[in-house]
Amino acid sequence: MADKWWETAVGYVLNPQTFLDSNGDGVGDFPGLTGRLPYLKDLGVNLLWLGPIFASPMDDNGYDVSDYKSINPMYGTMEDFDAFLKEAHKLGFHVLLDFSLNHTSDEHPWFQKALKDPTSKERDYYIIRSGKKEGGKLLPPNNWKSFFETSAWERIPGSEDFYLHLFSKKMPDVNWTCPELKEQYYDALRFWLDKGVDGFRLDAIAHLAKDMSFEDGTQNIDAHGLSYDLTKFSNRPELYDILKGLRDEVFSKYPCLIVGEVGGDITPENALRLVNYGDGVMNMIFHFDTAWNNGAYESYDKSDADIVTDVIQMKDNFMRWYNVLNGKADMPLYWCNHDHPRVLSQYGSEQYRNESAKMLLMTILFLYGTDFIYYGDEIGMSNVHYDSLEDFAMHDSGNRGEIAALQAKGYDDERILHYLNRTSRTNARTPFQWNHKENAGFTTGKPYQKLNDNFPSVNLQDEMEDPYSIVNFYQYAISFRRDPVINDIVLHGPLSLIDRNHPDVFSYIHEGSEKLMVISNFRPYTVYFSFYFQINDILLHNYGDVIIKDHVFELRPYESFLLKIR
Ligand code: GLC
Repeated sequence: MADKWWETAVGYVLNPQTFLDSNGDGVGDFPGLTGRLPYLKDLGVNLLWLGPIFASPMDDNGYDVSDYKSINPMYGTMEDFDAFLKEAHKLGFHVLLDFSLNHTSDEHPWFQKALKDPTSKERDYYIIRSGKKEGGKLLPPNNWKSFFETSAWERIPGSEDFYLHLFSKKMPDVNWTCPELKEQYYDALRFWLDKGVDGFRLDAIAHLAKDMSFEDGTQNIDAHGLSYDLTKFSNRPELYDILKGLRDEVFSKYPCLIVGEVGGDITPENALRLVNYGDGVMNMIFHFDTAWNNGAYESYDKSDADIVTDVIQMKDNFMRWYNVLNGKADMPLYWCNHDHPRVLSQYGSEQYRNESAKMLLMTILFLYGTDFIYYGDEIGMSNVHYDSLEDFAMHDSGNRGEIAALQAKGYDDERILHYLNRTSRTNARTPFQWNHKENAGFTTGKPYQKLNDNFPSVNLQDEMEDPYSIVNFYQYAISFRRDPVINDIVLHGPLSLIDRNHPDVFSYIHEGSEKLMVISNFRPYTVYFSFYFQINDILLHNYGDVIIKDHVFELRPYESFLLKIR
């Protein structure tokens, strides 16, 4: 781990299927992406995390992999990928692939063999157990509930056995206690590293280790008796050894960056065990503690007025992680990803699109860690406002599970639609809005996922022509963030909150060779913020003038400053 090249990186996260379609089939592809690398270079990012690109029946956005050593034909050929990687490297990008190793697709040949032949070695690649007989009925082996709202067990047709799937039933979980299964994954990961990819975002790794006694869960039991008991299948102590195997056998042999996704319940202390500079097994982890700090998660019973950003909770969550990890481990910084609604619609405002998009960037950019920008945030993309459940259900088994569960609880479709328009991750999976022409310039065909119909006013081309646009601000702010002096302050200088109890303003100071101060108003109305520092310079600001009286800032809706202070 000698060369930590990611210390000078600003990341960008994109889904290949919705970035740019080059051949008119409605789906984004590698030639399209390769052609737009110069745009990303101009934006100033230099580390790309691509959503899953391997062959997949696309039950869950490609996280259901049917061949780990192939390119999904939707996105082009292996040659197209190789050409992309070569060009990306030539332009100075590092490239991370999204790799799911908690489950495969049920269409993966391993699973097909496991189903066909109970004596096959592949049978042990999965978690297959006999059902329980109770009162003449055959029930699943235990009461575990999947993340997609059903039992986590599916019966194998023609037998009394069930397989475990923590996500959709088309995604059987693999068995990380099986030595041969491990070798299969080591081999697939090496295949991509040998091709020259620069690392991975490891999907859903929180769940690799399960309680292999398969006792019933005792927590979060629903009306059907299903238990969502994370102690049985999330962030268990055995996870460290599984990842250590991956590190020792594979990752340590390459100058790669490994970022793991660990779900919602890990503590910073447990995370530090996984990513610390000493005997850590990965470089960074994505947790979800700073997403959903507005009460929107599972908010089907709430009105829009109830969804208000809890700024104090958000500040505390950032600092909780900073206080444990700083100086001991690297951290990613991000607002949201493909599993959340658009951050602009959550913590910002569509009414104050320009101001709030800039404010959100300034707030996160100078905290502690490596920034990851989610595609489209740089032009102010927001939630979609679809008018049918089908638009949400079409490409997402997660949404399908949630819709069915809410219908079963008696919610009407209108209410569910309103809820999904607020919270569904599909909101953040719509095609990139390149221009105001047909299909926003994304495709000449029928778009894979319906576009956000705001593209005539929210699109890259128009923004490029406006000096005060969000994208031009992003470009300037990112180049400022990548300045070596600023980067050093952000990664190595002490960080502290100012006025932690202010309910509306997120303000912090980052000290180093210079003192940087960020002041951000998270409200759509004017708020006041006192300060007692001497301002040397205004480095970034999202309004044209400044209102300060007697050491009090009058902060207009979503107003934000980056100041140099003394
Ligand atoms: C991760 C992915 C998510 C996917 C799930 C199952 O959480 O980010 O999109 O549905 O794993 O692979």
